[in-house]
Amino acid sequence: MNPTKNVLIKNGCVVNSTGQTQADVLIVNGKFEHIAADIPVPDTCEVIDATGCYVMPGGIDVHTHFNIDVGIASSCDDFFTGTRAAACGGTTTIIDHMGFGPAGCNLHHQLEVYHGYARDKAVVDYSFHGVIQHIDDAIIDEIPSMVDEGISSFKLYLTYLYKLNDSDILRALQRLNEVGALTTVHPENDAVIAQRRADFLTAGLTAPLYHARSRPPECEAEAIARMINLARLSGNAPLYIVHLSNGLGLDYLRLAKVRHQQVWVETCPQYLMLDERLYLREDALKFILSPPLRDVRDQDALWCGISDGTIDVVATDHCTFPYQQRVALSNGDFSRCPNGLPGVENRLLLLFSAGVMSGRISPERFVSLTSTMPAQLFGLWPQKGCIVVGADADVVIIDPQASTTICHSELHDNADYSPYEGMECQGKIRHTLSRGETLWSQGKFTGTAGRGHFLKRQPFNYSDF
Ligand code: URP
Ligand code: ZN
Ligand code: ZN
Repeated sequence: MNPTKNVLIKNGCVVNSTGQTQADVLIVNGKFEHIAADIPVPDTCEVIDATGCYVMPGGIDVHTHFNIDVGIASSCDDFFTGTRAAACGGTTTIIDHMGFGPAGCNLHHQLEVYHGYARDKAVVDYSFHGVIQHIDDAIIDEIPSMVDEGISSFKLYLTYLYKLNDSDILRALQRLNEVGALTTVHPENDAVIAQRRADFLTAGLTAPLYHARSRPPECEAEAIARMINLARLSGNAPLYIVHLSNGLGLDYLRLAKVRHQQVWVETCPQYLMLDERLYLREDALKFILSPPLRDVRDQDALWCGISDGTIDVVATDHCTFPYQQRVALSNGDFSRCPNGLPGVENRLLLLFSAGVMSGRISPERFVSLTSTMPAQLFGLWPQKGCIVVGADADVVIIDPQASTTICHSELHDNADYSPYEGMECQGKIRHTLSRGETLWSQGKFTGTAGRGHFLKRQPFNYSDF
């Protein structure tokens, strides 16, 4: 494929987060050049017929974990297989959460490791979130240079190996706010998890269901409420909650939003589409992730948040450990199973089907959740996240008339299963273009490793949009 070839997308319904219009879209040199009705076909131009289809900004998945090393295992998707799967599912940009590095390492250590992981592998454009695994004066002094290098968001963990305590969190929030970076957080109360886990293991309760029982909704909601208040006390530092799974946490976020606090929230398809009954299945280890799957009332609450605008972003938290590896490592004990689910290829279609086609959300809101808000919050706007003249020509074309049955053998990641196996989706990803280059068309992947660009992201600035 020649990336500089001109492309004309004809007769589609072009959707931005602000509205939709029946129009043609002309792409020249990888950028949107002209959007209007009945654009004449120029010479030497590839024409894509989008009759009956939605033409939307390519998806931006701001939560993946390719190549992540979690100590007991490394995820089996790298930046090639992970971004290939992304492209085949209509996602044209990913922002990966860097994993922890060696104890005491500085911020640039992991940045260099991740540049090495992605450089010759990525099929779509990419960036990274920084990870703050300890706080001292050197880390505080290093943060601005990371932002200068395009890393304008960082993740803090309240549990796992490198959890931060409240005084570290306050220092991080304040510094990140000062230098134009967005704080993202994995909110779970570590003491609750440790106590419940120890109790269950002592009682011999090692089945996957006890993974969920050891991390109840209150454990997540408490940490969300704490972070909201610490952010407010740190000069109203902007805060982004990742992978929200429950309704109580959502209520705390609603309250903060009503009080005009700068707080945003992401959920993931697994919390909208799957529920904790899966932990009773024979193959329950396939569904071990943190926070865990919840009950259907939490699922309903999240759908309300999607419909009423409280939830800002849907990302995947794609983090793949094969089922066979989960079985071997856990050896009958949930606490030894690596955490995370695949899904980068399924995000758009699942939300399109269960959201747009079911009438819960409009196509515009779908674009906002999957592309525009991610671009705006993470320093990619207006280069990404919209179909406007001058922006990168990243496009997903979705056919609402066709249907798709999710089947792992047809996906492009490196997992050995899909958590969504057998689900029927109304809609089909017909075409994915990244900077005008076709990566997915007629059921075929046509991209190449290494064509994805590192995106030097702008500092966080909510007033920009
Ligand atoms: O279980 C999960 N979510 N694994 C990925 C790492 C994280 O906490 O986001
Ligand atoms: Zn997390
Ligand atoms: Zn994650």
